[in-house]
Amino acid sequence: MCGIMGYIGPKDAAEIVIGGLECLEYRGYDSAGIALAEGHKIGISKCVGSVANLKTQLEKCSLSGKMGIGHTRWATHGGVTRENAHPHVDPDGKVVLIHNGIIENFHELGEEFAKKGVRFVSETDTEIAALLISSLYRDDPLLAIREACGRLRGAFAFVILFADIADRYYCVRKGPPLVLGAAGGEAFCASDVTALLPYTNNVLFMEDEEIAELSAEGIVLYGFDGLRKEACPHLVDWDASMTSKGTYPHFMLKEIEEQGSVLRRTLTGRLENGVIGLEAEFPFSEDARLFRRIHFVACGTSCHASAVAGRLADRYTGLDVRVETASEYRYGNVICDKHTLAVFVSQSGETADTLAAASLAQARGARCLAVTNVVSSSLGREVGSVLELRAGPEIGVAATKTFMGQLAALTLLTLWISKRKGLLAPQEEKRLCAELARLPAKVEDILARGEDVRKIAERYKGLPAFLFIGREASYPVAMEGALKLKEISYVHAEAHAAGEMKHGPIALLNERMPVVAVVPKDGIYKKMLSNIQESRARRAPIITVASRGDEDIRRFSNDSLFVPETEEEFTPFLTVVPLQLFAYHLASILGREIDRPRNLAKSVTVE
Ligand code: F6R
Repeated sequence: MCGIMGYIGPKDAAEIVIGGLECLEYRGYDSAGIALAEGHKIGISKCVGSVANLKTQLEKCSLSGKMGIGHTRWATHGGVTRENAHPHVDPDGKVVLIHNGIIENFHELGEEFAKKGVRFVSETDTEIAALLISSLYRDDPLLAIREACGRLRGAFAFVILFADIADRYYCVRKGPPLVLGAAGGEAFCASDVTALLPYTNNVLFMEDEEIAELSAEGIVLYGFDGLRKEACPHLVDWDASMTSKGTYPHFMLKEIEEQGSVLRRTLTGRLENGVIGLEAEFPFSEDARLFRRIHFVACGTSCHASAVAGRLADRYTGLDVRVETASEYRYGNVICDKHTLAVFVSQSGETADTLAAASLAQARGARCLAVTNVVSSSLGREVGSVLELRAGPEIGVAATKTFMGQLAALTLLTLWISKRKGLLAPQEEKRLCAELARLPAKVEDILARGEDVRKIAERYKGLPAFLFIGREASYPVAMEGALKLKEISYVHAEAHAAGEMKHGPIALLNERMPVVAVVPKDGIYKKMLSNIQESRARRAPIITVASRGDEDIRRFSNDSLFVPETEEEFTPFLTVVPLQLFAYHLASILGREIDRPRNLAKSVTVE
């Protein structure tokens, strides 16, 4: 949450910082700001709204510099106002600072300063950090930062300019991510590697409790104890073209359409000649027979992918399966020991609750695995063992292609464990592998008919609410469909296990509340038909997501979205696609800001 970009070098810092912020806008977009240093003169410009507003504002003033820091905000403390936008400055103008995270003791510290007569300009928790560092600063910036960090509680990534230092700026990490890069007399920092890709893909992921000094000479790293640390850069195999929208109107549509190739990439090398092979990536293969439990822990869309995997694990692994949202898992009294395989699923690898849950499971001795799109993310580094999604950078706030990658990676993992436990017969493995290999083409087949989904979305554009239903693995798909719809179209949508309808939700139904039923031809199909009939009897319009060839379903539906047939274990790979498209088209018809839905940020780095 919140995007940060910093630069020092021979070029115009404004252009580079603004470019970086545009790339990071998916992390927050309620206000934006920039500080540019020209010698010892620091100029600041900030505004409410998007980075585009900031850019326009900058064009009208004469700010410039070869060193600059910028911020795009997702408000936590304090409303969306210009005063609360970053950067923040201490009253003496010595320290200019931007922040991602939450400072938990800002009230106590604020009272201390208030007693000394300091008046605060903003309502943020950030201003206190600028004040504190400034109050501790004599002539040693590192010492002042270290002392301030010793007094601050909570999570913070800071980028700091000192007015009397014209040739360096500082980064601090305790919690939220910061990535650094240096090349040819330039040094950059950003919240996410995607912003650095136009300049370098040789990057340094800051560790917790590190301070970095960035100058034309490069990057020098220190621990919070003040000792120098060795910098270990990573080569990232993404390039800048992957973060461009190309000719698509939105990143979300581009990413939905990439799903066939994402599936191919995720399966490649892990599925050969009808055999699943995860030896290289799953370090616990030898222990598989000793596992008693498997936990899938994640948030949001990643949790829905986990719930699909949980059902597969129930069926194939013989383990006690638990699927939990990370924010609940970490506070529950979970049995989690060396007989537990704990799988943490996160697109970004930066979600604060998922990270905290992973630390807890590690401390309790569980075997932990991260399933993430960003191997070098905090989660990847914390957990050590990583199964990579290989989806490429996802920019749209609503996760789509990474859900597909997660389904594939988690399916492979689950079947691999089953195999290692001696529960997956070779014939069965062959059958499942053959169908997995056919899925990318089937996904592309659905995408080729995307226009049909748009026509259906058009018919439902005026309705205030939707109810999604499904059973077994189609239930998490229904949840994902409802989540996509509400987050980008702002239309109320909720999902229920179809069997639960008559225990309450059915009371909501009338002719203005469509039911979206995920009803592929599977073992529970007949039961779903009964639930659809019950909904029809309450005059709800019915939209079904069904298997192609199921002509009967038309009799019970106002509209149907068909997907190719597949093995019943794999229906979520296909049924989710029309739901993503439905949400996308409805939001587009309603004129929503699809890639930047209100109140949301892609990377949720606060708890
Ligand atoms: C929904 C969405 C969120 C994320 C959630 C977890 O479209 O994107 O619900 O799935 O914030 O994020 P990661 O997977 O990065 O941990």
